Amino acid sequence: MHTARMIMTGWLALASALAWSAPPQLAQQLCAACHGIDGNGPPPTPRLAGQQADYIAQQLDWMRLGQRDDGGAHKAAWDRLKNDADIQAVARYYAAQKPAPQPAKSADPALLASGRKLYTEGNLAVGAPPCFTCHGEQGEGGSAAPRLAGQHAAYLAQRMKVSDTPQPPARMEMQEILKTLSQDDVKALLAYMATL
Ligand code: HEC
Ligand code: HEC
Repeated sequence: MHTARMIMTGWLALASALAWSAPPQLAQQLCAACHGIDGNGPPPTPRLAGQQADYIAQQLDWMRLGQRDDGGAHKAAWDRLKNDADIQAVARYYAAQKPAPQPAKSADPALLASGRKLYTEGNLAVGAPPCFTCHGEQGEGGSAAPRLAGQHAAYLAQRMKVSDTPQPPARMEMQEILKTLSQDDVKALLAYMATL
């Protein structure tokens, strides 16, 4: 009885290890064409490699429910991505992929320094909190906010825009922060984020 249970446990561990080593078929069929099979697809499509799994799943949910506008990019997926287990499998697969390095960009050192300052210290005078508290010191993200490191610059620029359309609560939180920033702040932050 005891041995049987041990064999069973071992078998389950092996089965789940095998499941994670191969890309889920759904990722191959539904996501790879745009996001790449390793999540490092070309711009303008955002990278998913190393992104927080909960964030991926949450955004998919919002896009499916029409609470986040995706310009129809995922409409072919909704028929197939039916249940939580499928969404979780795809999200965890992409979260486990290694983000490819971005080509080094040259930026004005003063601009970079001011971006780094905003990222690490915020600007209390206008009520901007330091970005790292939610997005992590290296932009790796966490339970509170998505990964920013290695993300395509054009996509980050698009996501740093203030929008007045109603958004899910987590997006509103980020929107309130964006409203405290000047155009110059955003430029500096984008330059700094490109180095993460
Ligand atoms: C036809 C191209 C296309 C396909 C196929 C596609 N995506 Fe996307 N995806 C996009 C685009 C474009 C965006 C950016 C949408 C926007 O904000 O305007 C995006 C955004 C996302 C985001 C939000 C990323 C972020 O950093 O906020 C997630 C998560 C995502 N896709 C997951 C997936 C998954 C998982 C699949 C497969 C089930 C998939 N996508 C299939 C084009 C695609
Ligand atoms: C209180 C926590 C918090 C702080 C501080 C914060 N953010 Fe965010 N940020 C979030 C959350 C939550 C999201 C995801 C919103 C959503 O679900 O659409 C986000 C999303 C983003 C995105 C979009 C990422 C993507 O993949 O679509 C960018 C870019 C961003 N933040 C930059 C910044 C910068 C720059 C700062 C500092 C000025 C900052 N954030 C400070 C919580 C935070």
